[in-house]
Amino acid sequence: MKPVFVLNGPNLNLLGEREPQHYGVATLKDIEARLQAEAAKVALKLEFRQTNHEGVLVDWIQEARHAACGLILNAGAYTHSSIAIHDALKAVQIPVIEVHLSNVFARESFRHHSYVSPVARGVICGFGPQSYVLALMALSGILQENPPSSDEK
Ligand code: DQA
Repeated sequence: MKPVFVLNGPNLNLLGEREPQHYGVATLKDIEARLQAEAAKVALKLEFRQTNHEGVLVDWIQEARHAACGLILNAGAYTHSSIAIHDALKAVQIPVIEVHLSNVFARESFRHHSYVSPVARGVICGFGPQSYVLALMALSGILQENPPSSDEK
């Protein structure tokens, strides 16, 4: 089975130091460790990455088309601005779950619009690091209901 790609966008490398009132105190490494443990329980492999660069996220989303069985994406602020990420996701056939640590709808109005949501299977936000775990559980359910065909594995 191909891995689930977990892609993280700009400034998420600063988790633990940055605006803890919104993002909590867990670091991205902490989140990855927790998610790896959850993935092992449901027999999924993870490829966990972070970049501050929009084009790199586009490259990784394109890579996921053939290298991943599912995609969990926290595009950070690019969620609210990136048509390039929207277009890249449109070319993806595997299930995509959008995640955010914070409840973006309880924050500034510029965070209420997402270019990812219209091209994602679903959205999970507001649960801190647990948002990633919930996304993985959702993806695991989707993959059990619709297993990738053998040439996609
Ligand atoms: C975020 C929410 C975005 O609005 C923000 O720009 C981020 C993090 C979140 O996980 O809550 O960088 O994606």
